[in-house]
Amino acid sequence: MKNIVVLISGNGSNLQAIIDACAQQRINGVLRAVFSNKAEAYGLERAREAGIPAHALTAGQFASREAFDRALMQEIDAYAPDVVVLAGYMRILSPAFVAHYSGRLLNIHPSLLPKYPGLHTHRQALDNGDEEHGTSVHFVTDELDGGPVILQAKVPVFAGDDEEVITARVQHQEHAIYPLVVGWFVDGRLTMKDNAAWLDGARLPAQGYAAEE
Ligand code: GAR
Repeated sequence: MKNIVVLISGNGSNLQAIIDACAQQRINGVLRAVFSNKAEAYGLERAREAGIPAHALTAGQFASREAFDRALMQEIDAYAPDVVVLAGYMRILSPAFVAHYSGRLLNIHPSLLPKYPGLHTHRQALDNGDEEHGTSVHFVTDELDGGPVILQAKVPVFAGDDEEVITARVQHQEHAIYPLVVGWFVDGRLTMKDNAAWLDGARLPAQGYAAEE
């Protein structure tokens, strides 16, 4: 069984979707540990509840981003992860961290990348009058929210939607696609090569996996 480590900063609803998928063997891996950069993150409770080791490492304990990430890597590596899953982990990663886990570091970002990297994606989609919005699972590279996309899910934006409604609509999709992608990875179907994502030996297009029409 492959070892999974998840990093969070907050609520951990995506973490919960992964915990549930492991329990139901939709992911053939073991969730070894959860780390948060916020001691009060509710996701740590979710982990404990599921009997998973839950750790908080907070930036104040360290002199620099590099020192923080070095300590985090050391603690993560104690669990021998095959894949490190960022699930609402809201901290910029040092280049050394990204390099260390290159090819086995996944993130979910709440927009249809390359649209809206960075923060406040839902607000931007609403302010720009977008008719569709969504979420992307991607490999992490040094470019912020710029690594190869693996899978996206789209949602409609309706007149009168507010940020809360659109966030919930997007997150509903996240809880479906993130466990699916983690499952592909632990089954050895998914790799990163030549700055692209590959599924079952086929290079995925820029918007990630798309079913044949
Ligand atoms: C998710 O919607 C995820 O896409 C987003 O944070 C939320 C975490 O929710 N991630 C980012 O914005 C990363 N840049 P959760 O803690 O309930 O899983």
